Amino acid sequence: TGAFTYDPGFTSTASCESQITYIDGDAGVLLYRGYPIDQLAEQGDFLETAYLLLYGELPTKAQKADFDNRITNHTMVHEQLTRFYNGFRRDAHPMAILVAVVGALSAFYHDSTDIHDPKQRMIASMRLIAKIPTLAAMAYKYTIGQPFVYPKNNLSYAANFLHMCFAVPAEEYKVNPILADALEKIFILHADHEQNASTSTVRLAGSSGANPFACIAAGVACLWGPAHGGANEAALKMLEEIGSVDNIPKYIAKAKDKDDPFRLMGFGHRVYKNYDPRAKIMQKTCHDVLTELGIKDDPLLDVAVELEKIALHDPYFIEKKLYPNIDFYSGITLKAMGFPTSLFTVLFALARTSGWIAQWKEMIEDPAQKIGRPRQLYTGAPQRDYVTIDKR
Ligand code: CMC
Repeated sequence: TGAFTYDPGFTSTASCESQITYIDGDAGVLLYRGYPIDQLAEQGDFLETAYLLLYGELPTKAQKADFDNRITNHTMVHEQLTRFYNGFRRDAHPMAILVAVVGALSAFYHDSTDIHDPKQRMIASMRLIAKIPTLAAMAYKYTIGQPFVYPKNNLSYAANFLHMCFAVPAEEYKVNPILADALEKIFILHADHEQNASTSTVRLAGSSGANPFACIAAGVACLWGPAHGGANEAALKMLEEIGSVDNIPKYIAKAKDKDDPFRLMGFGHRVYKNYDPRAKIMQKTCHDVLTELGIKDDPLLDVAVELEKIALHDPYFIEKKLYPNIDFYSGITLKAMGFPTSLFTVLFALARTSGWIAQWKEMIEDPAQKIGRPRQLYTGAPQRDYVTIDKR
């Protein structure tokens, strides 16, 4: 008891004031610093979005050039950090590796961990945005047994990531600009999403004054779950399991069955009770990528399109306002680009790092913020006396 409300899952509790991201879940609107997500994804690039999230305004040409330059100065990781990878089994999930190596950054950069110094906060932010693609690509290379590929700083953010993932020594690798453009869009769509579970985790960890790199590692850990960032992986696995359009009704029935825990992965959202605006752009990007790669009849896409059609007309889904979310089409797109399923959530973490660090910075700079400390409703035993072990 006490003067507080019980709100499991924080469905009606605001934990902070924020000026970064606005969502109108009923209308299907998503704005970063006031700018609609579709305009940023169609017309901008990822580093511009990261700048916008961090600083609150779109950069001028000079500011953009300076920011891009600073980020590319930080893309390398310390050679000693590369040794962490060797401690993992080759079949480790790359998210397990990412949690560890992002956390390990906290042991490397002592000149950017004084959270009260705005300059150090900014260097920590840039280091994270710059190094996360390198760390993510290294996790991929490690699990497939290939040597790490160093960043190529004359490439765009997404193109450099493709290069680090798919270039092989002694072979010419040219980044396909259409794929780089699609990946840049995917990163923009995933960059921030206000106070979701992983962002709230980053803020909660940061509220104690913890090391910023360690706070982002906490966000990566939270994102891993299938109800959150792990959903893109789960959605693709589900489409593979369904396999063909004929099997869809069986899975729809399972999803509607109250006694069956099965859910249609990539459907439903805590905040969107309308079509997820990110899913719309994702669907188009998916078509662009498949067309570019000459994939005409992808059975997974057929299943996805049909599943969406059926679900959008089914009273269960209509009543519960369950629409496809961003993860529904992102899996098919990433798979077509050549990424293994186990890397999907890693790509999400890579993109979301820009939002996490912007939210962390906003929290640190907010004088109203104090250490996060939820209350509880105690439902355990009342006070009782200790019983010695021979009497139990
Ligand atoms: N398939 C079938 N039924 C569903 C689904 C689904 N995907 N999602 C929700 N429901 C039902 C649920 O059973 C419940 O029914 P009832 O009221 O009869 O008990 C009702 O809809 C409300 O669900 P909820 O779990 O109370 O809603 P929530 O806001 O807690 O959950 C969610 C949101 C995203 C966790 C959930 O919709 C879900 O598990 N979806 C599948 C996983 C997924 O795609 N997650 C990605 C989210 S978007 C990316 C991100 O933000 O990380």
